[in-house]
Amino acid sequence: MYEPPRPTALAAIVSLLRVAARGDGDLLSLLPSKAYRVDAGWLGYSRRSILLVNEPELLRDVLTDPLGIFPKNDLMVGALEPLVGNSIFVSSGTVWRRQRQMIEPSFSHMRLSKAFAAMTGALDDYETRLDELAVSGGQFSLDLAMSHLTADVICRTVFSTSLRSQTAIDVFEAFTVFERTCAQVELRRLIFDPPFNDIPQHAAVIDACERIRKHLGDLVDTHLADGASQWDDIAAEIITARDVETGAGFTRKELLDQLGVMFLAGHETTASALTWAFLMIGMQPQVLQRMREEIATIAGEDPLTLEQVRRLTYVKNVFRESLRLYPPIPFIPRVATEPAKIGRYEVKRGAMIMIAPWTIHRHKKYWRSPNAFDPDRFSPEREHEILPSTYLPFGLGPRVCVGAGFATLEATAILARLVRRYDITVHDAARVRPIARLTIRPERQLMCTVRRRAS
Ligand code: HEM
Repeated sequence: MYEPPRPTALAAIVSLLRVAARGDGDLLSLLPSKAYRVDAGWLGYSRRSILLVNEPELLRDVLTDPLGIFPKNDLMVGALEPLVGNSIFVSSGTVWRRQRQMIEPSFSHMRLSKAFAAMTGALDDYETRLDELAVSGGQFSLDLAMSHLTADVICRTVFSTSLRSQTAIDVFEAFTVFERTCAQVELRRLIFDPPFNDIPQHAAVIDACERIRKHLGDLVDTHLADGASQWDDIAAEIITARDVETGAGFTRKELLDQLGVMFLAGHETTASALTWAFLMIGMQPQVLQRMREEIATIAGEDPLTLEQVRRLTYVKNVFRESLRLYPPIPFIPRVATEPAKIGRYEVKRGAMIMIAPWTIHRHKKYWRSPNAFDPDRFSPEREHEILPSTYLPFGLGPRVCVGAGFATLEATAILARLVRRYDITVHDAARVRPIARLTIRPERQLMCTVRRRAS
């Protein structure tokens, strides 16, 4: 069975030397081979202690966190703060509870039906671009293309503006700088910094965040000036959301923070998953064939409707399996704000608790042939084999992703429409190396070419 690219797992000290020699700070390559075997264990690289937790019951305890002692990790919060302030992705306690209660309804079933039209609009535009590339035969970067497409979907669904507008182009470009410069957890700080240290950001990151927030401010102001009820998008829902207890809405600053998160969490993640999905589909003609057969059976030659996309079980399973092998957020770090016991491990205040979908999804105890690409793991016949809390690309517990349904619908629609119409060839597919940045990305851009599908 096909095993897509992954770093070779080595002994701890050898992997540390490998990362030091490469100088790219990639946390995936740093993971020692035991990380894929143990229930839990210390990762011994750092000035602060880091406990890796793979065991389902234990990780559930940390992520549900009933006592409120394991908030989001300070290193991650510090890295994202210039863009998203103290918004839903990073906040904790009562501040987070209020934000979640106000934001969650924007991702309801009904809103997703409306979002589908915007997704379709972005795909129509994107197909026009791909048609041109199919004629010219020009090479393009698959990862940049997916970022562009998912950013367009977010701009349309959140702000009712397409990525053709100059504002959206500027936001996308500034975000690309942010993405390249900022890691989810930066290795140097992880190793050398004490817990709860202030994190000065690179000047380029601050500059990019200021540009993004300036544009977000303009988009919010347009909505505010017209009266949000004139708009039918996610921004309008978040602007009109009210705290159930006080009746207060978000301030303008809070709105920028929350909408910054929608842009951050809402497009790079899906773009990462799609990049890996297309790479793997390209390596396996039989998977492509089955996807096309399912699409033809359900929709014939007609344009895909929302209801049909929801019935594309195999296409969705290809996406789910891509998320298993390349979870866009490979690490879900927390910090102990007081001494605590996790299983038999005593953790000190300031210890980092690392829940890693990357290791859990490839753990030898929980998955058969863990490194093999096998979408049928998620088929109705075999799904029961998946142990609870061992598949968590969207996190788990109260902080589970609010956009999971949105992302699944969007990615299934994108995969279905593009495989139906095109043959995409990724060049040098066997030499690709995944590395952990803000999301899991290929080390170098994945260059590819596209042709209209030979029928
Ligand atoms: C394949 C795509 C996606 C993946 C893999 C993903 C993954 C995740 C994960 C793992 C978390 C939990 C992080 C933690 O517990 O520390 C999360 C939270 C979140 N995600 Fe997503 N996400 C995706 C798409 C989206 C989309 C499309 C949106 C919005 C448009 C979104 C918005 C959020 C928000 C707001 C949170 C914070 C929720 C909270 O803390 O209450 N995500 N996501």
